[in-house]
Amino acid sequence: MLITIDNLLDQRMLKAVREMLDKADFVDGKLSAGKEARSVKNNEELSLQSPLHQKLNQLVMGSLVQNKQYQNAALPLKLATAFYARYTPGMTYGFHVDDPIMGPMTGRYRTDISTTVFLSDKSEYEGGELLIKSEFGEHKVKLSAGSAVVYPSRSLHKVAEVTSGVRLVAVTWAQSLVKSNEQRELLYDLSIARDKLIADMPQSDETGRVSRTYANLLRMWSEV
Ligand code: NI
Repeated sequence: MLITIDNLLDQRMLKAVREMLDKADFVDGKLSAGKEARSVKNNEELSLQSPLHQKLNQLVMGSLVQNKQYQNAALPLKLATAFYARYTPGMTYGFHVDDPIMGPMTGRYRTDISTTVFLSDKSEYEGGELLIKSEFGEHKVKLSAGSAVVYPSRSLHKVAEVTSGVRLVAVTWAQSLVKSNEQRELLYDLSIARDKLIADMPQSDETGRVSRTYANLLRMWSEV
């Protein structure tokens, strides 16, 4: 399942994030890459030592965890600290799958879901599409500034070469309460139906049945 979240960040937040990143120090992205990714990764990342991380995460990660659509699609159990990546002309990130396990030895987590938050607008750069392979073919994703794409971490994906301008993104990962992509997708569809029923006919027997089924499937399938 691949979903996009429009306007995850509002204009005010986006402006604050951009102002911070404009004066930030970026380092070679290979420093944070796993074995497979290192050979295909050619970008820059905000240094993990940067004091800006905390402020940026308050805005970007804070918005993500509070977003209803993200909550229902990802059912997050553990969330990674975001990376802030910059691609200038000639930079690219070839096909790879994200590392399956991330985090320090004291707090490791499995990556079930990858998220990219677009921080520069699609009009600000040429190229730089996120290409995600799925069983139904290849998806080309290039969103407005402030919007995000959420997709299974197991998918093969790449960032096409940026040919002009600057592409800024935040990327992060989550371990989901529900490991199976198929089960998570069923729960996401059911959550949309449940929310509509609760809004339209809160007292009905059908609403109660769908709502209980959602709750009990989540109980059956989740691991904490
Ligand atoms: Ni990746």
